This record gives sequence, structure tokens and C-alpha cells, in this order.
Amino acid sequence: MLKIEKSIRERRSVRTFDDQELTKQDREKLSEFMKNIDLPFDMSIEFQFLEKMSCPVVVGTDLYVGAKVKDLPFLNEAFGYAFEKFILYAQSLGIGTVWIGGTMDRDAFTKAMNLKDDELMLCVSPIGYPARKMSMRETLMRKGINADERKSFEEIVFEKSFDSPMSADSANHLFLALEMVRLAPSAVNRQPWRILVDQNCVHFYLKRTKGFNGGKIDMQKIDMGIALCHFDLMCEELGIKTEFVMKDPELASKDFEYIASYRIVR
Ligand SMILES: Cc1cc2nc3c(=O)[nH]c(=O)nc-3n(C[C@H](O)[C@H](O)[C@H](O)COP(=O)(O)O)c2cc1C
Repeated sequence: MLKIEKSIRERRSVRTFDDQELTKQDREKLSEFMKNIDLPFDMSIEFQFLEKMSCPVVVGTDLYVGAKVKDLPFLNEAFGYAFEKFILYAQSLGIGTVWIGGTMDRDAFTKAMNLKDDELMLCVSPIGYPARKMSMRETLMRKGINADERKSFEEIVFEKSFDSPMSADSANHLFLALEMVRLAPSAVNRQPWRILVDQNCVHFYLKRTKGFNGGKIDMQKIDMGIALCHFDLMCEELGIKTEFVMKDPELASKDFEYIASYRIVR
């Protein structure tokens, strides 16, 4: 299995950690990685370790990573892309993480991040080694949101029009990259990404969940950034050359919101 594919398939949210401190080597590796995260957006995301923090759903570690972003257009998508890249890297080292955007004391984390007026802190993650057994709370939480389930390929990927679901077979060489989007984490596991493959372009749309209307901090746009990250990293690993485009192709899109596209160059 390819490296990114393995990290994506093996990652799950970890909310129960084993109380062991992160080794110095692992901390250094994460520290180096977070300084140099490339993005398709013209923006930089600043990461930092946060010590002695807590969240109601997390046990067994008090080390967190947070990140801040300037208040610019596409801040949520850019944040989602960058933070997921970090999460997949942590996964490759055997380090557990979970996206936390809701179940936290936002004021406490915002304060710990020392935000400037034009900066926002969108999500954080605890960092540590997964415990062998999940807490009862975590097990129940996963059941409550069907965290182990994903929509089928045909529910997410379409060909030429949103009336025409794409089968895994007809996705050909793009199948794995699209499948990696399907397996992505999303807020409350809502999986709001919809993809339209049209000629040599792969267009990403947001099917907004009712009641999830985002303000400046928009969890479902963060989900879209995560989807773009999975697609991009998998294409890169498969040697599929792509170009990132943010231009609405103005195809019939039901009530879905256009986000961005990858043009397949070869
Ligand atoms: C943007 C975003 C925000 C999230 N916020 C929270 C949160 O506040 N608390 C939490 O316990 N899980 C949170 N999650 C984790 C999701 O519930 C989880 O990814 C999803 O249920 C799928 O499960 P999996 O990550 O184990 O595959 C969040 C995920 C994303 C992508």
C-alpha cells in the first residue's frame, strides 16, 4: 500500500490516549513538519504546541496542537488542508489525533494561542499515543455519529452531471484518489463533499448540511479543505499531475456550493 493511502486508511479519531509523554524525537519531527506545510492557497497557517490543556471528550494526554490563520478569504479550506496534512503525518509516526472544532473551551484555547486581532484559531487536536482500549465515552460517541461508516462512492462522486453517479470502475486511474476523499474525516461525520468529474477536471462542491451554516469559522468548509488535501496528496503519490484551480465551471450544481477544482494535467 502507498504511504499516504496507508495513513488515510489507518487514521481514526483518537480521544483516549495512554498517558505516555510524546518522545523527544517524535516531538521534534512534528515540530519540523509543522513549520513547512505547503498549501495550494496563498496563505500560511501557523501551528503551535499547547501544553496542559484539556477537552471534555479527550483523556490520557494534556498536550495539544493548535493552529491559527489570518482572516482572509478561503481561510477555512486552507486551514482544513494544512491541518489534515499535519494529522496524516502524525498518523504515519503512530501518533494519535482528533480534529476538535466544537467540543472545547474555545476561549481557553484562543487565549493559549495568543491571537492577534486579524487571526483566528479554528480547530485543535490532542497529541499522544493511542490507548489500547477506547474510553466508554468515546465508544458511545463513535456509535452516536456512526463514525465508522462512510457514504458509498456513488453517493459522493458524479460524472459530468450531478444526476449521474460515477461507479468505482469508471473512475479508472482516478479511483484511489477519489476513494481517499471518501474516507476523509468530517465534522460530525457529515461527509459534505460532492465531486463532479468532467473531462479532465475534478470539481469539489459542498453539500451544506442544514443547521451547519458557517460564519467566519465554518466546519464544513474545513471539511472541504480536508477533502482537497486527501485528493492532492494521493494524486501526488500516484504520479498524477494536477493543477489547482479556483474558478467555478458554472455547471448545473443543484444547491451545492462550488469550492475548487483539480485539473488533471497528465
Ligand atoms: C472539522 C472537524 C471538526 C471536528 N470536531 C470535533 C469535535 O469538536 N469533537 C470531537 O470529538 N470530534 C470532532 N471531529 C471528529 C469527527 O467526529 C470524526 O472525524 C468523524 O466522526 C469520523 O470519525 P473518524 O475520524 O474516526 O474517521 C471533527 C472532525 C472535523 C473534520
